[in-house]
Amino acid sequence: MNSPLAKILTQYEKKRDKAFKEFLSRKENIYKKLPRIREIDEEISSIGLEKINEAFHLPEKCDDILDELKTVLMRLKQEKEAILKSQGLPLDYLRIHYECEDCQDTGYINGSMCHCLKQNLIGALYDLSHLKNILKYENFENFDLSLYSDLPFGDYPRSPRKNMENIYLECIKFSNNFPDVNESLFFYGNSGLGKTFLSHCIAKDLIDKGHTVIYQTVPNLIEILRKTALGEANEEAELINECDFLILDDLGTESATAYSEQVIFNIINTRLLSGKKMLISTNFNLEELMNTYPERICSRIFGNFRIYAFYGDDIRLKKVKVI
Ligand SMILES: Nc1ncnc2c1ncn2[C@@H]1O[C@H](COP(=O)(O)OP(=O)(O)O)[C@@H](O)[C@H]1O
Ligand SMILES: [Mg+2]
Ligand SMILES: [Zn+2]
Repeated sequence: MNSPLAKILTQYEKKRDKAFKEFLSRKENIYKKLPRIREIDEEISSIGLEKINEAFHLPEKCDDILDELKTVLMRLKQEKEAILKSQGLPLDYLRIHYECEDCQDTGYINGSMCHCLKQNLIGALYDLSHLKNILKYENFENFDLSLYSDLPFGDYPRSPRKNMENIYLECIKFSNNFPDVNESLFFYGNSGLGKTFLSHCIAKDLIDKGHTVIYQTVPNLIEILRKTALGEANEEAELINECDFLILDDLGTESATAYSEQVIFNIINTRLLSGKKMLISTNFNLEELMNTYPERICSRIFGNFRIYAFYGDDIRLKKVKVI
């Protein structure tokens, strides 16, 4: 089997092996350095058996024996922790350190896919390896409001900076409250105003919190779907509907066909029906949007998305000037 899922599961197996080997070597070193720890570990494993055996033969004293066992185990654990602490070591030093503690790097929790496995699968299917690097920089911490002018702009009541400050705070609120949010998000405005950047900020924050996120530009997504629609396995298409948060960037840059329009409608409609939120961004203004897409798409956007206008001078030019 060479499916993306099978490949990832092989990586998970390697991760578990590595975590286990590292744990063994930590343990070996500690046993050499601090023999009392080995004694404690041996006592812990032998006393459990001993007491269970005792309880089995004296069922009427079972509760007392188990209480006693608990007390001894607690004492041993405390002694071990005190030794580790005296050596400046973390209390979990002698446990296996998994990359994902939720599923212990198995990828599954009670038979269902863990968020880490879903996100890895999304990464493989949507080629998100490049996004990982982008997210190291494009996140809420690095969001720079000073790139936006605080002078009045056109007829807008607020300066671009004041406007962005509001959008930025709203996005943080959205991310903090996710998934208990009422509306999806819609960003529109000229290019170079931070729409993609801000959508990356939300993506990073939600992924870090264990949500599954797909980021794609509309043309790429349509291309991916066109390809997979021809094959049989359709994990890709399923994940678009299933992921916790979907970002569709650059709406309007796809070549407009009946197929692309149907795909866009289906995605928006399916997520609306299942109550799952998404973010759409576009360089179109609202008039262009309405001239390009049919009423069934526009009405869904206007009725269910929180709409944010991005305006100001192209940030790319400013950044170049600074350098
Ligand atoms: N708030 C911000 N802080 C720092 N850099 C930003 C910010 N917003 C945008 N940028 C940078 O400015 C450039 C244009 O932003 P981008 O998000 O691509 O604009 P848009 O998607 O609106 O066309 C990118 O290089 C991006 O990294
Ligand atoms: Mg963009
Ligand atoms: Zn996991």
